[in-house]
Amino acid sequence: MKRIIVTGGCGFIGSNFIRHLWTTDPGVTIVNIDKLTYAGNPENLADIEDDSRYEFQQGDICDREFLERVFAEQPVDAVVNFAAESHVDRSILDSGPFVRTNIVGTQQLLDVSRQLEVPKYVQVSTDEVYGSLGSDGYFTEETPLAPNSPYSASKTAADLLVRAYHHTFDFPAVITRCSNNYGPYQFPEKLIPLFLANAQKDESLPVYGTGNNVRDWIHVLDHCRGVEAALRQGCPGEVYNFGGRTEFTNLELTKLLLRLLGKPESLIRFVTDRPGHDLRYAIDCSKAENELGWKPQVPFEQGLRETIDWYQQNRQWVEHIQSGEYREYYQRQYGQRLSSTS
Ligand code: NAD
Ligand code: TYD
Repeated sequence: MKRIIVTGGCGFIGSNFIRHLWTTDPGVTIVNIDKLTYAGNPENLADIEDDSRYEFQQGDICDREFLERVFAEQPVDAVVNFAAESHVDRSILDSGPFVRTNIVGTQQLLDVSRQLEVPKYVQVSTDEVYGSLGSDGYFTEETPLAPNSPYSASKTAADLLVRAYHHTFDFPAVITRCSNNYGPYQFPEKLIPLFLANAQKDESLPVYGTGNNVRDWIHVLDHCRGVEAALRQGCPGEVYNFGGRTEFTNLELTKLLLRLLGKPESLIRFVTDRPGHDLRYAIDCSKAENELGWKPQVPFEQGLRETIDWYQQNRQWVEHIQSGEYREYYQRQYGQRLSSTS
């Protein structure tokens, strides 16, 4: 692999992926295309920003002329598309940006990649395209697509475009679908970093509904290793699921977080449930294990302790985010103001 275009590289998973690839593959040059929405933060890659094997191009994946210019600079060996609007709650407040970036942006990337005969394309997708499970069973790559939120519907539409481009044009694309990620650099609107930030300030933790919804948690580096395996060995036209085989109800996870932080359970506040809240996600990742030789490696409690340490050592990173637009979002979503940063 030589010149790889990674989109959404200033976000949570994209920045972890770029650092992972940059560290493990000295032969790779990475071009990071990112629009820098509220979720994009160049500070996430400050440690490598001056390196000659890393290049940042600020721009929108919906902008065809911009993409053509960046792609044409030098031959592109692969594209990995992380760029997306990624938060379910925001998609419920306004689905417009989700349709635009996740669907139209993917179509533009596919067209430019096809036009320039890019030899490998990885679409980073989510288990949420499969909808919701009951109390048993697992999502496999054969599970019918049944998205329930505007976010997951937009990701499903993108997956179907990728599938169609492979079927119609023999375009060399693979799709990866991963469960809920946690780890460093996650934007504090998602469950784990939000609850960590609130608990550290002795603010309440807003658990939706009864807290009985189940998620399958995976460390972001295990996800990054999976995307890398799909990039290097994934078979065009195939889908690969990744998961951590670590299921918790939201309430169990919240109590574990509080225990690890030494904070009281009285911080838990049950709030109005998310509309259309999927009950349970759980991934069967045996195809990736058998065909890509991948498996999740980070034990959950160890990964969670390390994540807690990272957020404690990087309070400034959180504080930078918890200003401006984020405060307005918090007030709108939770009906209460975020206290000033400590
Ligand atoms: P994120 O919200 O942290 O980052 C998204 C990044 O995309 C940001 O840097 C943002 O600036 C950029 N971006 C948004 N719109 C853009 C546009 N139009 N053009 C260029 N850049 C744009 O998201 P994340 O949690 O890192 O998720 C990355 C990908 O992984 C997404 O495609 C998401 O659907 C998928 N995914 C996430 C999870 C998870 O648990 N977070 C799980 C499975 C799959
Ligand atoms: P989230 O991190 O938003 O990921 P996703 O919706 O993609 O799974 O939420 C994880 C779970 O935590 C989900 O069941 C919703 C729940 N949740 C809360 O209970 N309270 C919150 O404030 C947030 C953000 C999420």
